[in-house]
Amino acid sequence: MSPQLDQLIAWARHAGSILRSGLGQEHQIDHKGEIDLVTEMDHLSEDYLIGEVRAHFPEHAIVSEEAGSLAGLGSACWYIDPLDGTLNYAHGVPIFCVSIGYAEAGQMRLGVVYDPMQDECFSAERGRGAWLNGQPIRVGNQADLGQAFLVTGFPYDVRQTQFNNIELFGRLLLRAQSVRRLGSAALDLGYIAAGRFDGYWEIRLKPWDLAAGALIVEEAGGLVTAFTGAPNYLQPPYGLIASNPVLHPALLAALAPA
Ligand code: IPD
Ligand code: CA
Ligand code: CA
Repeated sequence: MSPQLDQLIAWARHAGSILRSGLGQEHQIDHKGEIDLVTEMDHLSEDYLIGEVRAHFPEHAIVSEEAGSLAGLGSACWYIDPLDGTLNYAHGVPIFCVSIGYAEAGQMRLGVVYDPMQDECFSAERGRGAWLNGQPIRVGNQADLGQAFLVTGFPYDVRQTQFNNIELFGRLLLRAQSVRRLGSAALDLGYIAAGRFDGYWEIRLKPWDLAAGALIVEEAGGLVTAFTGAPNYLQPPYGLIASNPVLHPALLAALAPA
């Protein structure tokens, strides 16, 4: 029996309620890197989600941010970000979500991104569409990069390498209507799918950041590619450009190496 979208939605909503109940409290913070944190709430949410997947689909592989890669028997694989927007969360900023993606043979089949603070659940099933709280959603139709409202994010090794998105950020800030940085890649993608943002890009994501959100954008009529323009976004180096199809060529060109 294959997983059902409603099952993922129920799990994401429950994990989200765990996170919501802990927001603003004092957290136990561990540093994974100089500016890369994990809280006890990331682990609580992850333990719950991995427990559900293992209980219902014990033979499936799981790739989850804090637990790492858990091997499976076939080609089914879950991509879990139990708390996307950890830095926001650790500071009490209510912009974060739970992201759950399910793939078969390297292709995304199901995706859910749930924002517990807004009670917004973005979801998609390959070939069937994308929804926000059960209502169909579509990407926007802005074709003019000069009027496009964009969003991006930065990798945690921003201080260690010059390939850190700062030059691209400056470049696009001067060309687009504006560029935001919300601090949750999965939510950025949900907002693209709902037509709130026109375009998104980010370098060196992790598969759990993008798996669910990318499918949601595609099923909302958007285009998601690597920086090469190829549709193989679920592979290293996990760079992503997502937008409506009419804006995508201009965004891809604007993000090309200087
Ligand atoms: C991060 C957020 C952020 C993005 C980073 C991610 P985390 O995920 O999605 O927006 O810019 O690249 O690592 O650490 O909060 O799960
Ligand atoms: Ca993340
Ligand atoms: Ca995370």
